[in-house]
Amino acid sequence: MTNHPPEPFRIKMVEPIHLIAREAREKALVRAGYNIFGLKSDEVFIDLLTDSGTGAMSQEQWSAIMLGDESYAGARSYQRLADTMQEIFGFQYFVPTHQGRAAENILCSVILQEGQYVPSNMHFDTTEGNIRARGGRPVNLVCQEAFLDDPEIPFKGNMDLDKLEEFIQEVGAENIPLGMITITNNAGGGQPVSLENLRETSKIYRKHGIPFFIDACRFAENAYFIKTREPGYEDKTPLEIAQEIFSLADGATMSAKKDAIVNIGGFLACNDPDLFQKIKNECILREGFITYGGLAGRDLDAIAVGLREGLQEDYLAYRLGQTRYLLAGIKDAGIPVIEPAGGHAVYINAGLLLPHIPQPEYPGQSLTVEMYREGAIRGVELGSVAFGYPDPDTGEMIYPKLDLVRLALPRRTYTQSHLDYVIEVLGRIAGKAEDLRGYKITYQPPLMRHFSCQFEPL
Ligand SMILES: Cc1ncc(COP(=O)(O)O)c(C=O)c1O
Repeated sequence: MTNHPPEPFRIKMVEPIHLIAREAREKALVRAGYNIFGLKSDEVFIDLLTDSGTGAMSQEQWSAIMLGDESYAGARSYQRLADTMQEIFGFQYFVPTHQGRAAENILCSVILQEGQYVPSNMHFDTTEGNIRARGGRPVNLVCQEAFLDDPEIPFKGNMDLDKLEEFIQEVGAENIPLGMITITNNAGGGQPVSLENLRETSKIYRKHGIPFFIDACRFAENAYFIKTREPGYEDKTPLEIAQEIFSLADGATMSAKKDAIVNIGGFLACNDPDLFQKIKNECILREGFITYGGLAGRDLDAIAVGLREGLQEDYLAYRLGQTRYLLAGIKDAGIPVIEPAGGHAVYINAGLLLPHIPQPEYPGQSLTVEMYREGAIRGVELGSVAFGYPDPDTGEMIYPKLDLVRLALPRRTYTQSHLDYVIEVLGRIAGKAEDLRGYKITYQPPLMRHFSCQFEPL
């Protein structure tokens, strides 16, 4: 196993973390109803729950925060963000939002009617939730390769273009108010989408007059994958690639908590003036005035700086090197993983590791609990718990194809020794996988159940 490229930064401020005793971990699990979202951060040693809002901001971002203009309307901070947005994304209009799901909520509220469909390669859970909450039907049309375990497939996040065309023919473009694609594909392993596929997806949506929106959370990581994997892009900068990506779309949603390396923020952007009028009204009603969108002025400055830092090549080489390193180590330790490594996370195939636990007993949940019990490591289940839902027609439970556990790497936060510790703990779990047992759900809310449902071991 080779090391990853060294961090292109050094540490100037530290946050202590502690490994609490095994008995205390066991008690914490019981108190949390075996749902790792119920753990206190002080009970966790290595927190790989999410890469969302958990990264370390740079000295430039913290300095920019001091320049924040807190004017209610037309703040300088907004203008600085608008300039950056124009350069990278090039959309005519945008509103800041407090995070990605707020952008999704506004978009769905202004564009979607009950019974309508929203295709994508794969929607993330918040996007799915927001579409369903408006009575819409999210549809995932990711390519078949997404489900193959082959480290050589470079763009497993690609849309299945034939399926997309067929789907539009089948339900009719008039029933599709919006078409999306998620870059990188978080729900499918953090896998990238190629520029060629983005171009073809855009052509199909546009041919049918369907507005094309990109879920842009990890656009910089996706751009770097394109640079390193797609012929013809090796000499382009991640910024140039990003510009080409967004020139193909009619709008975007983004959680800035990812590739803008901030702790809070997001945006909704588009080119259509009529749509933007509706977006503005909804933003004012739900988020705040359109030049701050529920954020402080200083947050807008941090996003403006972070968007540029997230596109720096040495940072992206280190970032994607870290996930590659973690994946190689875990795999060597005997844990089945989704290959190749995603951008922001390593995805463990819990269904393969625990074939004796059926989907209705949640193999991913079982592994997630065991990682905490064994090493106070927090990952997240993205399988039958997160994506299982009752069929709207029959009420029968529909489960996803894969039962995954995601280990997401916060940006610029953990070192190689932290990753070595994670690898060691997973190695111990691999050695006793057949002793792990399933779980049953004792409480669940109607939507996005994995955040708050409660479990009991079987
Ligand atoms: C692909 C994708 N879309 C949307 C979101 C939602 O963003 P937020 O958590 O800021 O609401 C996330 C968050 O993890 C995501 O990964």
